[in-house]
Amino acid sequence: MTKAQISTLPLSDFTKHRTAFIEKMVNNSIAIFPAASEVTRSNDTEFAFCQNKHFYYLTGFNEPDALLVLMKTNDGTAQSVLFTLPKDPLHEIWQGRRIGQLKAVEDYAVDKSFEIKEIDTLIPQYLEGKSQVYFGFNDPDFSTQVFSWLKQVKSRSRQGVKTPQCLFDSDPIVEELRLIKSENELALMRQANHISGLAHQRAMQKCQVGKFEYQIEAELLHEFSRHGARYPAYASIVAGGDNANILHYTANNDALNNNELLLIDAGAELSGYAADITRTFPINGKFNKEQAALYQLVLDAKNLAINAIKPGMTFAELNVITNAFLTQGLLDLGLFTGDFNELLSDKKIKQYFIHGLGHWLGLDVHDVGDYQSNDKREQTRAFEKGMVMTIEPGLYIPLDDLSVAEKWRGIGIRIEDNIAVTDTGFENLTVNSPQTIEEIETLMATS
Ligand code: GLY
Ligand code: MN
Ligand code: MN
Repeated sequence: MTKAQISTLPLSDFTKHRTAFIEKMVNNSIAIFPAASEVTRSNDTEFAFCQNKHFYYLTGFNEPDALLVLMKTNDGTAQSVLFTLPKDPLHEIWQGRRIGQLKAVEDYAVDKSFEIKEIDTLIPQYLEGKSQVYFGFNDPDFSTQVFSWLKQVKSRSRQGVKTPQCLFDSDPIVEELRLIKSENELALMRQANHISGLAHQRAMQKCQVGKFEYQIEAELLHEFSRHGARYPAYASIVAGGDNANILHYTANNDALNNNELLLIDAGAELSGYAADITRTFPINGKFNKEQAALYQLVLDAKNLAINAIKPGMTFAELNVITNAFLTQGLLDLGLFTGDFNELLSDKKIKQYFIHGLGHWLGLDVHDVGDYQSNDKREQTRAFEKGMVMTIEPGLYIPLDDLSVAEKWRGIGIRIEDNIAVTDTGFENLTVNSPQTIEEIETLMATS
């Protein structure tokens, strides 16, 4: 049987991720990372399985109900153990193949593998005499499990067994590692972006007045899958007209109307890595005057922010640049009246640009990593080579906003690209999603 050629990280990258975590561990310690479990959709059917992303980053292993243990001895020697579900012919006939313990060692380069049912025997043994335990504080159920293992160890204290005294949150360590992408991760994210760009092109080509939003969503999913990305990175937003003013609109069940815009926020997930792209275009293929004016303003704001990205830049500084530019733009178009500096200091733009300028992107669409927000909620973290982020300015004028002339109402626009920070500047990963008015109108006219 020939398997589809789906890109993934090489095994050596997952080993590197583990080594990087182990380097942060103190001697004589243990770290424990659970995989995700399947989630019931209804009765006996499950949602498509999505692995715990920290666990995936450290293993590349994509089965549910597994557990990774990393241990570091007193002399700094490391050991990795992967607990997995057993080989089970009956289960495999009904549900699918499992790797099993032998292949887990071979294919995932861990030192040992045991059946998952061994955890309650083996983990208390591993914990004995260790000084520190690392696990994610984010998951209350798993914390309860760790405390139950610790209690088992402690119950043997009269026999001289030492219980770890120090519990350490592993989440910030993994999050910092995940924030800086390697060349191989960047290559996957480039590919996820390329596939998503093809899907956005297809959506523009297939869009017609009278179709339904979900029909355009189907075109996106079709194009993702055609190129090996089976799942979207998040529920696709396909929002015609005033629906674009609902930021996380996913109902996708309205008809597409003439003279309205269609906002599509959709990205493919490839080997766990997300693309997150938004394009907004006219349903009938031609922007009207007001739509074009607001669209050009958002597009110019996006490009202004992107062109300022380099090591040392911050989201806080990009926000200052973008907010000033959009404020001046709305003054010029007559949606704002008054004094520029007053509008700026009153943060008036937040009435129409109602979300953040961007976020980290990676294995999660809203990826992990500290933004170093200060007490004014400004994100002051200096960008570094290997960080990937979205830049996604938008303007949203709801249909019922009586403070602006009627011609502007019901227009919602967001344009979103994915950007990697390089040594000296940036790389825009979003290269094949049409974005200028001319590109969009030409593509739609020739479809
Ligand atoms: N697709 C969600 C976002 O843009 O943040
Ligand atoms: Mn985004
Ligand atoms: Mn998005």
